[in-house]
Amino acid sequence: MNLIVLLLSKLALFDSCMKKLLIKNIKGLVQAGEDIPMILRGVEMKSLPIIENAFLALEDGEVISYGKMEDLSGIDDWRELEIIDGEGRFVLPAFCDAHTHTVFARSREEEFVDRINGLSYEEIALKGGGILNSARRLSELSEEELFNAAMQRINRFISYGTGAIEIKSGYGLSVDAEIKMLRVIQRLKNEAPISIKATFLGAHAFPTEFKNDHTAYIDLIINEMLPKIAEAGLADFIDCFCERNYFSVDEMDRILQAGKKHGLVPKVHVNQFSVMGGVKKAVELGALSVDHLEEIGEDDIHALKNADCIPTLLPGCSHFLGIPYGNARLMIENELPVALASDFNPGSTPSGNLQFIWSLACVKMKMTPEEAFNALTINAAFAMGLSETHGRIALGRRSPILITKEIPSLAYIPYAFGDQHIERILV
Ligand code: NIG
Ligand code: FE
Repeated sequence: MNLIVLLLSKLALFDSCMKKLLIKNIKGLVQAGEDIPMILRGVEMKSLPIIENAFLALEDGEVISYGKMEDLSGIDDWRELEIIDGEGRFVLPAFCDAHTHTVFARSREEEFVDRINGLSYEEIALKGGGILNSARRLSELSEEELFNAAMQRINRFISYGTGAIEIKSGYGLSVDAEIKMLRVIQRLKNEAPISIKATFLGAHAFPTEFKNDHTAYIDLIINEMLPKIAEAGLADFIDCFCERNYFSVDEMDRILQAGKKHGLVPKVHVNQFSVMGGVKKAVELGALSVDHLEEIGEDDIHALKNADCIPTLLPGCSHFLGIPYGNARLMIENELPVALASDFNPGSTPSGNLQFIWSLACVKMKMTPEEAFNALTINAAFAMGLSETHGRIALGRRSPILITKEIPSLAYIPYAFGDQHIERILV
């Protein structure tokens, strides 16, 4: 009995749009337009177009018409048309999650308890926990098991409104294990119902055997891992955890330069615990995004001005580790674009629910609901190279679309935190 209920609710949530669909009487059609920019900077992040009392027509998932109900047109053939009544509901472009570590073997709640008892994330890592803990566990699961576990997680994130996801390797830390992770991500790309981007994060931590010989591990990344990964087309981006006790700015420089030679665009972890100059270096290297930035210096802000590199803030990590939140207001005042992502991973952020991230951004970072929504859609799509297809609703696009439950306003979603506000997802 339970199984049937589950299956039915799953079917109702996930609609793959292989048909003609009209959503009518929509309370607010959000972020639909033909001239919406690819990236929103500073004050632009406040603007969020909403068409009230609207309709949206799709054919095989492609937007064929939208507008105000009184102008309902663009549907030539009303046969076999499914009609959804959007009364009281908002229709939105799905969120994009531009930073996750969705493939891993096991959760790490024992470290969570250690932190409650007073240890810091850095202290746990120094005694062999953290990333190295997940790296040890990875060998316990086959590719098939890793795939199944990750697919279940992705389906859960879709039900919360995620319509595209970036996934990193980085729990392998050896040639075979990094390739194993990336092969799982490749299979997820082929089989998941949403778009996925793969990031090679061999430079996530130094394995214990290379603790005193960083050069040897970096050589392994550059000479063994990268050529194999690039040749098999297993990654879109290259990442590096630039942080004290992890990779220095110079080490990151070497790794990203090598990745670029193989056509991988940099997208990096910087300034999670300390300001080391990694932001400036990443911008110089043409990084698409710099992620975390819980710590920020004036030089970092300066480096990001007028760059096509998007700061991506991860408030779920700040919440869970009890570290500072990224200073979104300072970035927005400085006319920077800001993206938000979950950072879903078993150590620092065990939630991939972007509705919750939306709420945290508003409550803890003082982003307005509109700014945070833009950071989760338009700017997040930019941060994962999906601006052409995701983040907004426009004619001819097939981007995933969300229909909310009946809610009084759009701000109600981040306001009523912890609830599920999405009723249907069209992917
Ligand atoms: O983004 N900081 C580096 N990597 C992850 C955490 C990884 C882990 O603890 O397993 C992050 O927070
Ligand atoms: Fe991360």
